[in-house]
This record gives sequence, structure tokens and C-alpha cells, in this order.
Amino acid sequence: MAEFDVIIIGGGPGGYVCAIRCAQLGLKTAVVEGRETLGGTCLNVGCIPSKALLNATHHLHEAQENFEKMGLMGAAPTVDWAKMLAYKSDVIGQNTKGIEFLFKKNKVTWLKGWGTIPAAGQVQVGDEVHSAKSIVIATGSESSSLPGVAVDEKIVVTSTGALELDRIPQKLVVIGAGVIGLEMGSVYARLGAEVTVVEYLDAITPGMDAEVAKTFQRILTKQGLTFVMGAAVQGVDVAGGTATVRYKLRKDDSEASLTADTVLVATGRRPYTAGLGLEALGVEMLPRGQVKTDGHFATTVKGIYAIGDAITGPMLAHKAEDEGMALAEILAGKSGHVNYGVIPGVIYTTPEVASVGKTEEQLKEEGRAYKVGKFSFMGNGRAKAVFQGDGFVKILADKATDRILGAHIIGPMAGDLIHEICVAMEFGASAQDLALTCHAHPTYSEAVREAALACGDGAIHA
Ligand code: NAI
Repeated sequence: MAEFDVIIIGGGPGGYVCAIRCAQLGLKTAVVEGRETLGGTCLNVGCIPSKALLNATHHLHEAQENFEKMGLMGAAPTVDWAKMLAYKSDVIGQNTKGIEFLFKKNKVTWLKGWGTIPAAGQVQVGDEVHSAKSIVIATGSESSSLPGVAVDEKIVVTSTGALELDRIPQKLVVIGAGVIGLEMGSVYARLGAEVTVVEYLDAITPGMDAEVAKTFQRILTKQGLTFVMGAAVQGVDVAGGTATVRYKLRKDDSEASLTADTVLVATGRRPYTAGLGLEALGVEMLPRGQVKTDGHFATTVKGIYAIGDAITGPMLAHKAEDEGMALAEILAGKSGHVNYGVIPGVIYTTPEVASVGKTEEQLKEEGRAYKVGKFSFMGNGRAKAVFQGDGFVKILADKATDRILGAHIIGPMAGDLIHEICVAMEFGASAQDLALTCHAHPTYSEAVREAALACGDGAIHA
């Protein structure tokens, strides 16, 4: 039985970041992780492998669509699927080994196995019981399916199965036009699959700025994805290697179906806390399955904390990381803080989509007086040079004070561009602060500055 200051259950972005910071702050720290490799869902079967496939297929798409326009002649590359999957696995391996290295460097102990909490202050891994002053639940989330949809990870898959299919689907039906559905739908559409996305709501990517969502859907449709909107999936039947997806249109209750060789269920994720023993300990849970915490990640049982997908808030790796760091500071007797108003969201399609802060819809609902500065990438020389003029930057600022309240970008490198605005928002900047900052030419970032200028006297290249 070993004694630790902190034992963190779960080695994903929330858990491993929390562990490294705890160790850096002088706490004796261990992480319990039952997978063969560290990094959790994100590194093993989520963010990182999907970005590898998005990268490979983006290049394929460029070769097919744009090479000739640039005078690069010759046949576009053919796809060696096994090799593409091997590239993806290599990327995963490099990243997960990187975390192992960081654990050694920071003297974080990896307790290999699945952990349970038999009593406050104790964590059991296999036959061994370890003690800790503080226990952190960082167990993440799992895909949640729908009633009538049985996932076999071969024909009917979650994001996990979609990242290791043994073939490229010919016909793929994606249930849910959220982040996972659209990223993986893009991958397979670029690989030649006929992709149909069935979405319950009338707009894709719920919660996103409506104007961005509309533009995004138009661009994806142009790229070959088909959308069936306002359709509630009732069930999936599999027979002889073919899946039939049954749905009901919400507008008139009419029923219809689609057949496919592969179905991706991307209807959200739910906290993964089963088997930890939380019920017996009296740790209070919220109705939607999250662990209940106070503003400082403390659960209702003294000495037990929770972060990341297991608690409320957006299920994003970087949100979990920030919570991990903040909690480490708190456990070390300092003050840790997460600004939930400035957490960016990114979709890694081409073009990328990124947002931070309030949407126009939220501001309207709050009855706030705001102004909009918008700039199209059509006016950005760099974007046009890479055939990505179809998109825009939209900045929302307070009408009276000019303080930036939110930003929404669809366009090249949107996922990187958004951070300039995140930093500005953290500093309480006005749109004019951004507008008066010199931006290098020619860069995509100029579009951000132009949108900021559009909040004032006007953009230059519009
Ligand atoms: P999501 O919540 O983003 O989207 C699920 C979609 O499914 C919604 O549009 C919903 O209306 C639809 N839906 C639900 N029930 C349905 C039904 N019966 N019929 C038709 N449509 C239905 O969930 P998703 O895409 O599975 O992602 C899960 C989590 O993982 C999210 O929190 C997401 O933010 C996170 N994630 C983030 C990524 C990123 O930051 N780039 C990448 C992948 C996942």
C-alpha cells in the first residue's frame, strides 16, 4: 500500500494534466489508468486519431480538387487504407508515449489498472489499495447510443469504431450532425463514401452561431455530404451486412429509411463513472449522470474531486485540462480558476469552424445591445490563394463599451485564429484594441483584424 497526496483516476487530458501540475507543485501524485496507453479517449480514440485522418484526407481532397488549378498535373494519389490507418496509429503512439515520458520527467506514478474507491481516502487498483489525501475523478465520457440502435463497432459504430474500420464505407449514414458526425463524415466523404447525415434538429452543430451553422452546412453540402434535417432516428436494423436506418420527420411524422454498409452513431457522449463505487460512498450525482461538484471541483464527499467530461460543462479536452490545472493549484493550497466564458470550440473540417464566447442568438435572448463586425475571407488575399475564400470572421461586441463578447469563424485555420480573440477576451479587450493591433500581411489573421475594424468605422478590404 502506497501513500500519495493525490491519486487521479483517469489518464486523459483532464487527469494527466492535473497530475503533471500536482507533481510540479510538489505533491506526491499517482494516476490510475487501465488502458495500455495514457492519454484517454482524446489521444487514443478521439481528438488525435481523427485529426490524423482529417489531415490525410484533406491532402487527398486538395490533390483531387485544387492541384490542377495550381499547375500540379497528374493523377491524384490513390488510397492505401491500411497504410493510412498505420499512420494514424503512429501518431497516436507518438503522443501517448509523450505523456509517459512527461510522467517520468515529473515523477508521476502510473498505477496500471482500473481503479475503484472503496472508501474516502483510498483507491483500489487490482488487489492493491493505495491511500491519498485527495482523490480526483477524471474518468471522462463514453459514447451514448439511441434506443433501438445496437452498436457492434463493425457496421453500427461509434467514433471509436469509425476510427478503425476495416474498409472505407461505400454508403455511410451518420446519425447526429454534431462535431463527431461532421468530422468523421468529412473524412469518409473525402475518401469517396456516399455520406448522409440524419439530424434531429433543423440546424447542424447545435449551439453554434446560426449564421456560421448555415454557411457550414452549405459548404459541407457542396463537398458532397447530404443532410436529412428534422429527422428523429427510430432505430437501426442490420441484416446481411446492410444496415437500415429508420427515421421519422418531425414536421409531419412521416417515416422513411436509409440503407448503408456503415452507420456512425454520433448523438453525444455521457459521463463515464460506472464501477467507481461512487454510489456506495454517497457521492451525489446530477440527473444527467455527471458528478455534482461545487465551484472548486469538490464533490459532496470530502477529499473527492471531479473534473472534465465527468462533471458539467462542454465535453472538451481543453476544458478538462484547464480544470485539471486549476484543481492542482487548489490542492496545493493556491487559487485555481477556470474562465468558462472563454472556452473555444473548434471543428476540424475544411474549412475549420471555431467559436468563443456568446453567439448572436444568446445575446438576443439576454436582451443585450451588441454590434456585429463581419469580414469575409473573400477579402483576404492569403485565403483566396488557398481556395478558401468561402467563410468569414464575425466579432460580437458590446454596443456601448465595444468590449468583445464573442467571435465565430468559419475559414482557414479558424481553430488557431480564434485564440487571438480568446486572449483579447481574457484581457477584457474592446474590438478597437484588436483593430489597432498591427497584423502581418498576408495572413489569415488579417481577417480577424478586419472583422474588429468592422465593429468600428469599417473594414478596409470589404
Ligand atoms: P453533439 O452533442 O455535438 O451532437 C449530437 C447531435 O446528434 C446533435 O446535433 C443532436 O441533435 C443529434 N441527435 C440526437 N439524437 C438524435 C436522433 N435520435 N436522431 C437524429 N439526430 C439526433 O455530439 P457528438 O458529435 O457525438 O460529440 C460528443 C462530444 O464530443 C461533444 O461534446 C463534442 O463537443 C465532443 N467532441 C469535440 C470535438 C472537437 O472539439 N473538435 C471532436 C469530437 C467530439
